[in-house]
Amino acid sequence: MRLFLSLLVASAATVLGQTFEPADFNITEALLEQGVNVSAIPKLSELAERSTTAGCSIACNSLKLVYGSGSIVTQGSPAYDAFTSSFWSTRQGEVNPYCIFKPSKGVDVSVAVLISRLTQCPFAVKSGGHAAFAGASNIEGGITISFELMKAVTLSSDRKTASVEPGNRWGDVYQALSSTDVTVIGGRVFNIGTGGLTTGGGISFFSSIYGWACDNVASYDVVTASGTIVNASPTQFPDLYWALRGGGNNFGLVVNFNLKTVPLPKQAMWGGTRVYTEDQFPKVSKAFSNLVANSPSDPNAGQWVAWLNNGGTKLAAVELYYAKPVANASPIFDEYDAIPSISDSTQIRTLAEYAQTNQASNPNGLREVYWGLTVKLDQRLADEAKDIFYQETAAIANVAGANPVIIYQGITLGQLAAMTKNGGNPLGISTADGPLYLIHIACWWNNASDDTRVYSALSKVLVRISDRAKALGKMNDYIYMNYASQFEDVIKSYGTDNKAKLKSVASKYDPTGVYQTLQPGYFKLDHAPVPNSGYYSGI
Ligand SMILES: Cc1cc2nc3c(=O)[nH]c(=O)nc-3n(C[C@H](O)[C@H](O)[C@H](O)COP(=O)(O)OP(=O)(O)OC[C@H]3O[C@@H](n4cnc5c(N)ncnc54)[C@H](O)[C@@H]3O)c2cc1C
Ligand SMILES: *[C@@H]1O[C@H](CO)[C@@H](O)[C@H](O)[C@H]1NC(C)=O
Ligand SMILES: *[C@@H]1O[C@H](CO)[C@@H](O)[C@H](O)[C@H]1NC(C)=O
Ligand SMILES: *[C@@H]1O[C@H](CO)[C@@H](O)[C@H](O)[C@H]1NC(C)=O
Repeated sequence: MRLFLSLLVASAATVLGQTFEPADFNITEALLEQGVNVSAIPKLSELAERSTTAGCSIACNSLKLVYGSGSIVTQGSPAYDAFTSSFWSTRQGEVNPYCIFKPSKGVDVSVAVLISRLTQCPFAVKSGGHAAFAGASNIEGGITISFELMKAVTLSSDRKTASVEPGNRWGDVYQALSSTDVTVIGGRVFNIGTGGLTTGGGISFFSSIYGWACDNVASYDVVTASGTIVNASPTQFPDLYWALRGGGNNFGLVVNFNLKTVPLPKQAMWGGTRVYTEDQFPKVSKAFSNLVANSPSDPNAGQWVAWLNNGGTKLAAVELYYAKPVANASPIFDEYDAIPSISDSTQIRTLAEYAQTNQASNPNGLREVYWGLTVKLDQRLADEAKDIFYQETAAIANVAGANPVIIYQGITLGQLAAMTKNGGNPLGISTADGPLYLIHIACWWNNASDDTRVYSALSKVLVRISDRAKALGKMNDYIYMNYASQFEDVIKSYGTDNKAKLKSVASKYDPTGVYQTLQPGYFKLDHAPVPNSGYYSGI
């Protein structure tokens, strides 16, 4: 029985200018085109004929029959437990998929999507597994597609682009490029996945020079709902390319990110953490605001500020970085240099080493939430937001293992300007709004029984900050997907026009809503992952 006939990838040309998926689209025939003969898989053919709903068991068994037992992991095996415990957040690890499917190449992903359609078995996809909430990249009772075997990183011969498969974490990519003098715009912590970060936005050490990760993708190879793999670029399927620049998992599964490279001689840069005590907070807050405002004078420089509570001691941990291997090279850091710190790990090192160091402060295996909003750069608000955070998080000081942090990062004018490259992106922010900064709360804790206490306290922080920002005329509607909580309606925050356009792109490439209903997790076009929670949900 030969199940696997050929590796057919529809070329972009065959579908250009036509209705993307016809109303009489036949999934069985589409599978045959991808080399899978449904008639040769007894259970699947029965299902196709009788349209029963035994869904996921048939789907998983069919994938096993087509790709072999090595590509499928099922419940009750050590490999299954190892998989669920590999998520950064235990909120995701406690979700139990019917099976885990490990595709080796794009066409395997097409087949999985088509089999999901045929069996109506829902799916989720996992790249680096760093989304914090349940169901983002793991699905209860469905197929979790893990990209872990798709780890190619291929530099083009002219070194202008690097093709990166979605099983890569950013550290893998930086290591693969370590013997070159180029890099790509990606995450700042080693284990973060290429898939989630890039489809949601992506702030890198180099973003004030070149823009966000999503604005530095030359093209995406994407598995659409019909299983067809298209190359979306500024010139081919430009509407899909636009939507993928921050629209999340709503349009298809990206099986190759063709990333523009940028120079980074010897991979060397400067950066590290300086820690400041509470008496220095007013100066730190001012230095933060000025560095965001002055970014255009030296976009090599970047920062984030984490305001934390170390067992009752308030501290500010400021990450300072520079895109060149020079210490204190730029007057832009003078203001920070003048503030006495209690520790300082800034140093020259390679990008991969730096990302590895940052990994240490972000351990796996705890309950996690990220929750954020965006405001206009404003000194007063920067001072007050952290005070609100310290006031409201006192309520969870005795929650076992609770470690709340509030983090500020600039969306500088350089970052905003790059968002207009190659036809723009759907995020709904521009230099006319800016500079802006992101405020997000990150918190981990131990016990499920404390979830609602943690959510209530953090929600209050964001409600109060947002109220204050509105009163000062400094609120911006945008919610950054990669730092958003399950309670926030991210796509709505992109604005009415962008949301309408995203929905029209989705209805063109996915007319039956496969990526809305069969892939229910994460930020959907029409609702928050957990809608109507009563917690802070954005504008
Ligand atoms: C410790 C830590 C550090 C971080 N540092 C940064 C940073 O420096 N800059 C920044 O911008 N963000 C950062 N983030 C946020 C990060 O970008 C998000 O958590 C992101 O979702 C993680 O991507 P992932 O692939 O690891 O997640 P996953 O959980 O694997 O995926 C997240 C979502 O992306 C979708 N997705 C994944 N792969 C694909 C694909 N190939 N095609 C379509 N959809 C896909 C999935 O459906 C899923 O819903 C950080 C997060 C953490 C926890
Ligand atoms: C789809 O195609 C198969 C194979 O050609 C055929 O047997 C089946 O009836 C078709 N299904 C529908 C719904 O048209
Ligand atoms: C599909 O499988 C069936 C049953 O094994 C077989 O009769 C048929 O010829 C196959 N079709 C193709 C196109 O290979
Ligand atoms: C909660 O955490 C504490 C301390 O970590 C632990 O002793 C306790 O058993 C946990 N409770 C539950 C319900 O898990």
